[in-house]
Amino acid sequence: MEEQENQTVEARPDAKCKIAFVGSECYPFVKTGGLGDVMYALPRALISQNCDVRVFLPKYRCIPEKYREKMVYRGSFMMDLCQDGRSFFVGIMELVIDGVIYDFIENEEFFSWGNPYTDLYADIPKYSYFSKASLAAMNYLEWTPDVVHCHDWQAALVPIYLKTQFAPTPVGRAKSILTIHNLRFQGICGIPHMKYWTNIPGFVFDYPGMKQNADDANMMKGGLAFADCITTVSKTYAGEIQTGFYGERLDDHLRYHSGKLVGIVNGIDVEQWNSETDSLLPANYTAADAIEKKKANKLALQEKLGLEQDENKMVIGLISRLTNQKGLDLVNAIFGNIVDANTQIVVLGTGDHNYENSFRYYEGVHKGSVCAYISYNEALAHQIYAGSDALLVPSLFEPCGLTQLIAMRYGTIPIVRETGGLKDTVQPYNESTNEGNGFTFFDYDAGALFDAVCRTKDVYFKERDRWDEMVVRDMGVDVSWDKSAREYCDLYMKLKG
Ligand code: ADP
Ligand code: GLC
Repeated sequence: MEEQENQTVEARPDAKCKIAFVGSECYPFVKTGGLGDVMYALPRALISQNCDVRVFLPKYRCIPEKYREKMVYRGSFMMDLCQDGRSFFVGIMELVIDGVIYDFIENEEFFSWGNPYTDLYADIPKYSYFSKASLAAMNYLEWTPDVVHCHDWQAALVPIYLKTQFAPTPVGRAKSILTIHNLRFQGICGIPHMKYWTNIPGFVFDYPGMKQNADDANMMKGGLAFADCITTVSKTYAGEIQTGFYGERLDDHLRYHSGKLVGIVNGIDVEQWNSETDSLLPANYTAADAIEKKKANKLALQEKLGLEQDENKMVIGLISRLTNQKGLDLVNAIFGNIVDANTQIVVLGTGDHNYENSFRYYEGVHKGSVCAYISYNEALAHQIYAGSDALLVPSLFEPCGLTQLIAMRYGTIPIVRETGGLKDTVQPYNESTNEGNGFTFFDYDAGALFDAVCRTKDVYFKERDRWDEMVVRDMGVDVSWDKSAREYCDLYMKLKG
């Protein structure tokens, strides 16, 4: 990726709208999952739609030095935060990359840890501070957005602050959108702790605002109630979260607010994920030479990971946070049945120790056929997307999922459970019409996953022409942000009024 850093931002007097993004992670500064990808790619796509975008992020210690050293100081001030009037330093450090302005909120007390997330007891004060400081920074910079687009629970206090403490200030004119990337994480803690750190007025804690129950407050719940609009990252997930199974105890709250809830599917940045130009790949390719060149990528991957080098073996990849959201119980249950003399599995991920250890165990048992790479590794992820034949995404729930989109773009066939965005983005292979982009199953059941893997293998090993057609077809699927960025733009314009 060729980035142009800190070039002058052209004034955009003709911009359609001014949008502030507020979220807890953003590639390439800090990323633990798909939220980081979206915070990077969507603002870039919005700039092409002629929007003015600034992204507000915490200046974590873990942000690489090569970015930190280029940041420009834009000012600082003290800000009241807590119920007892305790105030905190807010610094604003700015970086401009390819026309997107990134404003990093600096505070040593909150952001001096290595990683963005620690535990809820520490994270609640940290993100209360960050949400309020982002709005205060907008006022300080005298930049008033039309819409503040908030992401996940870490920014869920923003819609509340906008309608309370910040209502009489310039930024109080802005409308708010809260996007749910993952409803499982909500930012819940005892009411006194939340009241102390946010100093939000008492009425906000009443049902149906931020109060979760007699003892606890819930940031996500409060944000959903106060936001002008709620979005989530696929149409199917927008429906699912209104049901008991997927609703994470907020299904009734979301049904109540369903009039302002829409699903807009994620895309990926097609420059960042481009097999033709990806400098991390041993062999670049397009749809025209993918069948041959993917073999070269496969051989290089096998060599790198200590697998038996053989272009005729099927390589199945899995790139994931290792949590129970990702359907790993199903994978564990049938692991030994998928690996065979002609099939290898590559796992790249970190997370729960029980999953990390079980994948390590399978690597030990199937030496040369299985690699469990227990780590976070951006470069290896690119090489697995390119060098695998298929990618497993059997999630229990998946708000959108980006790995299946990246896989398709790299001509790697996804095997997915029909849930959330996986359902909306992967059209099941239909053997009678020879259409579709991947292999799917519905029941959250190891047998159903096994059946899908067997169907995948059947086409790979017995109908290679059809397989190769699907590879080329998948590379032609539009997984870019174009259409969805237009939908967000329409939404901003509607809110702006
Ligand atoms: P989630 O946000 O739930 O983790 P997504 O599918 O939306 O799932 O996004 C995951 C993103 O993180 C993708 O860009 C994927 O390539 C990346 N990723 C996940 N695990 C790893 C890892 N261990 N190393 C490198 N990239 C990873
Ligand atoms: C979340 C979800 C994932 C989604 C990502 C970006 O982490 O788990 O499905 O793709 O956010 O929206």
